[in-house]
Amino acid sequence: MIYAKIAGTGSYLPGEPVTNDDLVRRGVDTSDEWIRSRTGICARHFAPSGSKSSELALFAARRAIEAAGCAADDIDLIIVATSTPDFIFPSTATLVQAGLGIQNNGAAFDVQAVCCGFVYALATAEKFIRSGSHRRALVIGAEVFSSILDWSDRGTCVLFGDGAGAVVLEASDKPGIRAVALHADGRHHRELWVPGTVAGGQVMGDPFLRMQGQAVFKFAVKVLDEVAQEVVSLANVPQESIDWLVPHQANIRIIQSSAKRLGLPMEKVVTTVGFHGNTSAASIPLALDCAVRDGRIRAGQRLVLEGIGGGFAWGAALVDF
Ligand code: UT7
Repeated sequence: MIYAKIAGTGSYLPGEPVTNDDLVRRGVDTSDEWIRSRTGICARHFAPSGSKSSELALFAARRAIEAAGCAADDIDLIIVATSTPDFIFPSTATLVQAGLGIQNNGAAFDVQAVCCGFVYALATAEKFIRSGSHRRALVIGAEVFSSILDWSDRGTCVLFGDGAGAVVLEASDKPGIRAVALHADGRHHRELWVPGTVAGGQVMGDPFLRMQGQAVFKFAVKVLDEVAQEVVSLANVPQESIDWLVPHQANIRIIQSSAKRLGLPMEKVVTTVGFHGNTSAASIPLALDCAVRDGRIRAGQRLVLEGIGGGFAWGAALVDF
């Protein structure tokens, strides 16, 4: 039996933290008190103007490869989850492949499931590895969300940040990813989206992120509870055996609700939203890498990863680390 197991993690945050008060000083009509109490966010990072997701992804990828103890050329599959790709095409994954100097002609492509992108990418890579067609995948979530924020829309611009996280997933005879569940409901696509597009040499429509916050909040709480239970049940493991919840980092109140439904105290939940904000597809692998590097998450422990984003698209994975 071939399993797909996480062999190494890495992440990258650009620049210095930007606090809530920094945003006020930059002219956003908000307050530290409002942002902290509604979301749990104290700070986030923004990449310098003109930065590309592939640049952030490369830093995270190199760290994950180093942690996995393999060479870049051992990677035969690269999947990048991003909603802020460098270009319309080629994929950001091919740019990462070139940046790493990989010459093995392995597969490289992007997946687009917004804030749930990393879970979708991980689930995709897992299926390639379990099929035996590929041995070692680099799965990355990377975003420069600052490039799609409307700084006059205080309901969204205070929530997001930039960053990248990566894992190396490799074939193993020991269980790694035990279950995944992916879902989407496209009827909600106007509740969280960037409506604009590029055509005829021009941006057509609105190029900024738009969100109906309360609608997203309610939906997120409901489906994250369901999908976390679903992977526990699919993996056929006791709920009490879960060591860590590593959720998408959008709002501390959503995370608290998820933890409660899983019967986990907050000490068993990795929360980085306070210092990273919402980094969309990067948020789960960023949180994972933080907890691995500070020694909280250790080999042999059992994790639930879960996320939801635009579409809506949502999902979870149950992982033996
Ligand atoms: O990553 C994808 C998943 N995304 C999410 O999970 C986000 C889910 N949604 C949320 O986290 C919350 O809905 C938000 C944090 C976005 C908003 O919190 P809320 O408690 O739902 O606030 P609200 O949108 O209902 O706004 C309440 C008030 C409004 O003022 P009035 O109309 O009551 O006078 C807003 O104008 O707060 C005001 N407001 C702000 N005030 C200060 C909205 N944004 C801000 C702000 N600073 N940044």
